[in-house]
Amino acid sequence: MSELLLITDDPRRGERLAQDLGTFRACRIHDLYAEALGTGTPALIVSDVSTLTSDAVLRLRRILGRVRGDGVPYLFLVHGNAARAEAQAQALGATGTLGFGVAAQTLLAALEGLHRCEDPSAPAVERHAGAAQRLLADVFVPGVLVTPAAIETGTGLVTRAIREAGVRAWIQAVRRFDNATHQHCLLVAGLAAAFASSLGFAAADRHRLTKAALLHDVGKIRVPPAILNKPGQLDAVELSVMRTHPVLGHAMLLGCGFEDAMLTVVRSHHEMLDGSGYPDALLGGQIPDLVRLVTVCDVYGALIERRPYRAPMAGKQAFSILDGMVGRLDGDLVRAFQPIAAAFDPSMRAAAHDRAAHAAHIR
Ligand SMILES: [Fe+2]
Ligand SMILES: [Fe+2]
Repeated sequence: MSELLLITDDPRRGERLAQDLGTFRACRIHDLYAEALGTGTPALIVSDVSTLTSDAVLRLRRILGRVRGDGVPYLFLVHGNAARAEAQAQALGATGTLGFGVAAQTLLAALEGLHRCEDPSAPAVERHAGAAQRLLADVFVPGVLVTPAAIETGTGLVTRAIREAGVRAWIQAVRRFDNATHQHCLLVAGLAAAFASSLGFAAADRHRLTKAALLHDVGKIRVPPAILNKPGQLDAVELSVMRTHPVLGHAMLLGCGFEDAMLTVVRSHHEMLDGSGYPDALLGGQIPDLVRLVTVCDVYGALIERRPYRAPMAGKQAFSILDGMVGRLDGDLVRAFQPIAAAFDPSMRAAAHDRAAHAAHIR
C-alpha cells in the first residue's frame, strides 16, 4: 500500500500529472469512466475531474467507497467554479483541496503534508489539524510564495474539521502546536468557521471568512522570531516592529492572485472602530464587515491560545474581555459571537441556560 491512485476524467492530462506526482511516489492512473479498477489499497488518492456532472460525482463516490481505506488522505483537485467544487469535495470526504494547475512543487508539498499527518488511529480532527499545520509550515516561510491554492487547501481542512468535530475539539487539537503563529492562525480560522456557521452564512461565505482568518497574520513570518516568541511583554521598540506585520503581510500577498478583500483583511485586522487601531487608524465605516468579523475572532483567539509563558485564558473570562471592547469592536458581532465562546467553554453554556431558566420563571 505505497502507491498513489490518481482518478481522472482525462487520462492524457492524468499522464502529465502523474509525471509530476511520480517524484513523490509510484502513481497509478485510473480513468473515471473505465470499469476495471485494479486491486490494492492506495496510500494516497488524488482526483482530477474537470467536469463534475452528477454521473462523474457518482462514479467518484463509488470508486472512493471501494478503494479508500481508513485514514487514507484524499486530495481533490479543483477545476473551474471553486465554491461548487469545494462543496463537492467536502461531500466526498476529501482531506484537502487544491486548484488544478498549481506548480508541481506546491502540489507535492500539499501531498507530503497530507501524507505525513495521517495516523489512522488519531481522531479525524487531529488529522485535519495536523495536515493544516504542516501545510502552513510549508508555505508560511520567508521567501516562499504564499499561493491561493495552498490557502484553499488549508481552509478546506479547517471548515471540514469544524463541521465534523466542532470548535471545542479543534481548539484542543491546535493548542498542542508549538509554533505560535501556526497555532494562532489555525485557532482563529476555526473560530471564524464556527462563527460563520452560527451566523447562517452560505458555504461560499463561510469558506471566505475562514480563509481570511487563516491568512490574517501571514505578515508575522517576516517579524524576527526573537520578538515574535519573546516570553513576556514587548518593549516600545519591539512593539513597533511587531506592529509592522499587517503591512508586511499585505505587501507579501500583493500580486499573488488573492482577491482584494483578503488583502484588506491582512492589512486592516488590527483597526478599531474608534480609530485607535493600526496601521491606518481607520474609523468605523471605513472598516469592512469581513475585517470586523476576523478581528472579533482574532482578539478572542489570542486570549484563549496557549503560550509557553502563560496558561490559556478560560473562555468565559476571554469573552468578558471581548465584551469590554465593544465600541472598539462591533457590538452586534461581539454579541453574536457569544454562542461560539459558549461552545468552547461549557460553563458559559450553563450560565446561559440558567439565565434562560430564570427568565422563563419570572415571566
Ligand atoms: Fe495580527
Ligand atoms: Fe492575529
